[in-house]
Order: sequence, then structure tokens, then C-alpha cells
Amino acid sequence: METKHEKVLILDFGGQYSQLIARRVRECNVYCELLPYTTPVEKIEDGGYKGIIFSGGPNSIYDENSPKCDEKVFELGIPVLGICYGAQLMAHILGGKVSSSEIKEYGKTDVEFNLSSLLFHQAQQKNVCWMSHTDYISEVPHGFKVTAISDNCPVAAMEDIKRYFFAVQFHPEVNHTVEGMLYLRNFLYNACGCTADWKMSSFVEDTVAKLREQIGDKKVFCALSGGVDSSVAAVLVHRAVGKQLTCVFVDHGLLRKDEGDSVEKVFKEQFDMNLIRVNAQERFLSKLYGVTDPNEKRKIIGEEFIRVFEDEAKKLGQIDFLCQGTIYPDVVESGVGDAAAIKPHHNVGALPENIGFEGIIEPLRYLFKDEVRKAGLELGIPEFLVWRQPFPGPGLAIRIIGDITDQKLAILREADAIMREEFANNGLDKTTHQYFTVLTNIRSVGVMGDGRTYDNTIALRAVTTDDFMTADWARIPYDVLEKISNRIINEVKGVNRIVYDITSKPPATIEWE
Ligand code: XMP
Repeated sequence: METKHEKVLILDFGGQYSQLIARRVRECNVYCELLPYTTPVEKIEDGGYKGIIFSGGPNSIYDENSPKCDEKVFELGIPVLGICYGAQLMAHILGGKVSSSEIKEYGKTDVEFNLSSLLFHQAQQKNVCWMSHTDYISEVPHGFKVTAISDNCPVAAMEDIKRYFFAVQFHPEVNHTVEGMLYLRNFLYNACGCTADWKMSSFVEDTVAKLREQIGDKKVFCALSGGVDSSVAAVLVHRAVGKQLTCVFVDHGLLRKDEGDSVEKVFKEQFDMNLIRVNAQERFLSKLYGVTDPNEKRKIIGEEFIRVFEDEAKKLGQIDFLCQGTIYPDVVESGVGDAAAIKPHHNVGALPENIGFEGIIEPLRYLFKDEVRKAGLELGIPEFLVWRQPFPGPGLAIRIIGDITDQKLAILREADAIMREEFANNGLDKTTHQYFTVLTNIRSVGVMGDGRTYDNTIALRAVTTDDFMTADWARIPYDVLEKISNRIINEVKGVNRIVYDITSKPPATIEWE
């Protein structure tokens, strides 16, 4: 679905912050797209972009295979902002000089600005910026002037105001750059002339109209997991075509306490959707019987999901479209080195394209997660669903170490519910990005009253993270940990020991399996 909003291009040179730049631009209410540096200049020209941002990247421009875009990008008459490696590349291509330094300039750095620069309009003359580079621009190209310096960087920023080319050695997109958003806004609004027309309310309206046109009087099928993405996608389609949409929600018996009921309630009662809840607990649990290997568990659950959906789709007869909650980070191609190699987990709810649908509908394909949440709120989806922490497709199966039994599921469900309740009571649900309990397969000795026990150990896991690729263990106050521990021991039969996981990712993963 093409956007009618004005847009900016972020050309990705493999930097770890490329997606962050895109999110920041969207936060400035400007729609943007992220494309690899190899994108042909003709495609860029056809894209109708109002500005181009070159991301950073891990290379030195003198590396043999360092990423370089088509130099004709500078002949399109479009304003360009180069960031870090992107700044050096601009200097290099346009005839300046990039040199290598003995020492890396890394971290928070004091930078002094020339406030007559359009980029630093209304900024403070001195401020802290985030630097991470070894190479630096030692001579600016013809037509450029230096607009910021730091102790170790003779060109912390430069510009050619005639051609609207700007470059910054630091990272405006990183929070540590105190006025980074101001510099970005100056580029977007003052250099590119963007009017900030990217708003969630208009996204929802436009998308609903386009979906109506695309779907016409045909039928749509959606696999609803109750997670944010599939919920928002389904509600958008439902707003467009109402009962032409049928959602299937599979209860595989590995959900958290009351989860199935609450999802059913929201979508059936509040939204009056055609929702089929498939109670497939037996089907999944019998297949999982005795299985201990985590990947085997994932595989079984993933395959069984597809079988269940196929069965349901068959029952419904002719279905024309499949709706999926794919979001932008799932689809952007970096096309560059490591950043491309790190892929999120395969979503087990995803259906193969060959199960007989005419087309796929992905209304969130161009949204970042925070935008999906905003769209969800705009659509009236309850906050508890919109702000829900991620829950893996294989559910509690990968939080029970070893084989899965009804009894273990019951223990884990109760323990998990207590942890979630206490997190909510203490406001930690807003600040901790993922938190859950794990049923370890350790039994240990304890004493309760006068008797000796030999029972299960529950591990508590809570992390803070920006992207789930890396994570830090959450510093939960001791009294909250104590409360959770006491409650689980007292309220959940079969547990006599609680431990708190204090490993970050890496080296550990967030889940235990
Ligand atoms: P890890 O454990 O790899 O998890 O640090 C990173 C994020 O991915 C989630 N996760 C999964 N999600 N299917 C999913 O849909 C899976 O098999 C799966 N494994 C992990 C995990 O909960 C965390 O948010």
C-alpha cells in the first residue's frame, strides 16, 4: 500500500542505529523508509523523497569492500544528511578528506556548534553528543563549511547550504545526544521542507479506506494471537470490512492464566468480531508428550498451528485474503553485513502463503512497534492488550524446562500470574519489557512447618531492553522480589524455592529455552 504522505529515505550503510534513525524521523511525524545503500538511484528518484539520510556503518570508507551508494544521489537536488560513516562518505565522494585517528572517539562528547547553521537553529552553542568513530573528516569538500567541532574532531559537522548537504560525525538519533531530535527536526522541517503530516489518526483513516477498496466484498481470514501486532491488524481490517473478516484464535493450552478468555472477550464482546476460538489443548499436548528438546517443541507447535489453521480455513470455505500482523522491522532489508544477519525469531503464528489464499493483507507492514501501539490505542483496543509484553508463540512450552505435563503447566500458570500481578501492583509492568516465570526441572529440599519437602524451583526472569536482541536483567526492588517469592511459595502447591535470574543477554537469552 503506497503512502500519500511526504517521505524521507534512510539509506542504510549497515549501522546498528539505522532503524533507530527511522523511528526518530517518524517521531518527528515524518514518514520514512529504510532501504539498503545498494538501492539504484533511479528507484530513489522515483520514490519522491523530500530528503535522504545516510546512516552510520561499521566500515572505514577506505576498506576494500566498504559500502558506497551511487554518487548520482548527490545530483538529484534532494537535501542529504550524512550521519557518522554517512558523513565521511559524503566528504569522500564530494572531494573532501577522511583520515584515520589513533584513538577512537567514543561516548558522550562535548561539541561546539555554529548556530548560524540551519541544522543547529535554536540549539545551544555547546552540548553533549554521542560519538563512535575512529576515522574523521580532516578536510571538508569544496563548498562546505565546518559547523561544529569537538576536542578530537575538527569536523563534528559540516554543511553546504547551497546544495542542502549536511553531515554530522555524531549520532543525533541516540538519546545521549542531548538535542539530537532538534537537529533532526531542523533537517526535516527546515532543510527538506517536511510539514509533519505523518499522524496515527490519518494513518488509520487512510488504511481503512485502502483496505475497503482492496478487499471489496471478499472474505478475509486472520490468525489472531492476542499479541499487539495481530490484534491491531485484525481491528484495522475489521473496521474496514466488519464481518467479512473471520479471526481464528488457537488456544494451544500453553497460554497464560485467563489469557484465552480475555482475548475472546475483547474481540467478541467489545469489537463484535467473527472470532473462532479453537480449543486445541489436547491436540498440542498429545503431540508434545515426552518431548524435552526446545527446538523440537518449537517445531511441533509451529507445525500444529498450521494444521489447525488449515482445518479451520477448510471449514470456512472460500476465503480470499489472509491478514497478517507483519511489521516494518520484519521486512526491512538492511542488505549490509551483520545487521542483516540478526533476524528475529520466526513467528510460529505465521502461515504459509500456499494454503489457498488469493492474497496477503499486511496493514502494519510499514509501522514500527511503537507506531503499532499508537494505532492500537487510536482504534480503541484496551491498554492491557496494546501494552502487552511479548509472549512467544510456543507459549509456556518453552518456559517449562524438560517435558510438559498438565500439572507443570498449572504450577507455572499460577506462579506467572502472581509475578504479573505484583509487577502491575508496583508499576513495574510499565518499565520492564519482559517478565515471567520459568519452571526449572530442578527439585530441591526445603522445610515447611515441621516437614521436609522436595519440590520444584521457579526462576523469575525480568529484563529491560530496547530491541530484544540485547537485554539487561531488571533491577527489581528486593521487597517486590520478596513479596513474589512469598506468594508463590504460599499459594502455589509444589514449589519450595524461588531464584532470580541475574544474567543479561548476551550471554544468556531472555527465554530459558
Ligand atoms: P530470546 O530468548 O531469544 O528471546 O532472547 C528474544 C525474544 O523473542 C521471544 N521468543 C520467541 N517468540 N517464538 C516467538 O514467537 C519463539 O519461539 C520465541 N523464542 C523467543 C522472547 O520471548 C523474547 O521476547
